Amino acid sequence: MKVSIIGGAGYVGLITGLGISTMGHNVIATDIDKDKIDLLKNGDPPIYEEGLKSLLDYCNQEKMIEFSVDTNLAIKNSDLIIISVGTPTDLNGNIDLSQVKAVLSDLINNMNPFTLIVIKSTLPITAVNMLKEELGKVFKEGEDFEIASNPEFLREGRAVYDFFNPDRIVLGANSSRSIDLLKNFYSPLINRSLSVPEDIAVEEKEIPFVITNLPSAQMIKYGSNAFLANKVSFVNEMAQICESVGADVKDVISGMGLDPRIGTNYMQPGPGFGGPCLEKDLAALIELGKFFELESTFMKAILDRNERQVDLIRDKVTKEIDSSGAIITILGLAFKAGTDDIRNSASIKLINMLLKDGYSVRSYDPVAKFKVDNNKYCQFEDIYLASESADCAIIMTEWQEFKSIDLNKLKDLMESNIIFDMRNILDRFEVEKIGLNYIGLGS
Ligand SMILES: NC(=O)c1ccc[n+]([C@@H]2O[C@H](COP(=O)([O-])OP(=O)(O)OC[C@H]3O[C@@H](n4cnc5c(N)ncnc54)[C@H](O)[C@@H]3O)[C@@H](O)[C@H]2O)c1
Repeated sequence: MKVSIIGGAGYVGLITGLGISTMGHNVIATDIDKDKIDLLKNGDPPIYEEGLKSLLDYCNQEKMIEFSVDTNLAIKNSDLIIISVGTPTDLNGNIDLSQVKAVLSDLINNMNPFTLIVIKSTLPITAVNMLKEELGKVFKEGEDFEIASNPEFLREGRAVYDFFNPDRIVLGANSSRSIDLLKNFYSPLINRSLSVPEDIAVEEKEIPFVITNLPSAQMIKYGSNAFLANKVSFVNEMAQICESVGADVKDVISGMGLDPRIGTNYMQPGPGFGGPCLEKDLAALIELGKFFELESTFMKAILDRNERQVDLIRDKVTKEIDSSGAIITILGLAFKAGTDDIRNSASIKLINMLLKDGYSVRSYDPVAKFKVDNNKYCQFEDIYLASESADCAIIMTEWQEFKSIDLNKLKDLMESNIIFDMRNILDRFEVEKIGLNYIGLGS
């Protein structure tokens, strides 16, 4: 099939574009960001993900994918168009559809009948209906085009793995023609008949299709993200109560998790959910509720609780360390391990708060970068250089290398001796044994 992916240099678009090119389709990945397209043509991924560089090199070498800024030409030459542009929310939680609307105008000006338009971006059904309506003014739905939904569930940090080994493929459309086209499109992935480099894991597994209508497919995505966010806020609130009553949240979660209805997945306290999706998708869900005159009290509570988590971490720090002349080392900038994405990262929020409070802040992250125009902030290339003379170190991202940090070396280098482990990845006993003060979450 001739496929174009619009937003093809973005996080989702790039992984998807490369992934589907290994399925034997003719893929053009287009993006308005010329810098990213140039990087990709040269084999440089604009984001960090395990396996991405090798996948990109392989697809470029085998000429399996074309990167281009010419979306119009790509649309003219495609039978199937995947839209994966960004759908951010503004400060009021309203979804910003400007990227989607720009694509709509490209489609109106260039689309050939028959084209299947596949929405991969996370979009409320009201926006999908707007797309249908606008396209319907120029083309005939059913004859010239159809719109289907195929939401994306990849986890940043595991994105390449997740493309090739998804838990499910959700297809939402209002006609069997679209569903059949998409099932056919995905058949090489389902049949595990892929052309991938050796280091890419393709597990032997059954991948179920979830076939449904358009609104349900979109709601599966929103519901999944809201539920995951709910778990994070729940466990963070539990951790806070555990601290007050003298309980240990790790024991509480493992005790609760033995009930198969509960489980322990995604139940670790931390700095709260960040990244480009959970917060904005909850906000969009609340707005969707408002549109239909529904009160989303539960969704709002999840979001409110998450917003408080960074404040609580800052309170822990200010309680122990006076800001005058103090140096604080932040370990981890990315919103989660395995990615260099700092969008909505709790670390960045905390750094800005601490700088405002008057602390000097140093940071270290193995891949993510953060700059701020403040001479009290500096990012280092090494954990130990970043920790020299610091009054405390705060672990914010669950990178593997922080789990095996040389605690003796850290103790010798630091001015004071406090470790805030905001991912609960260290063993309190081991930390305290060598004379460092340990402050975790939930105990
Ligand atoms: N990042 C994730 O983990 C993730 C996971 C699942 C779903 N999603 C959803 O996927 C969508 C994309 O997210 P992302 O993180 O990949 O965003 P992103 O910002 O990384 O990528 C969007 C890309 O679209 C490009 N773009 C914008 N307007 C364009 C236009 N008119 N024509 C061509 N390209 C254009 C941008 O330059 C950018 O490269 C969002 O709806 C998001 O909610 C993201």
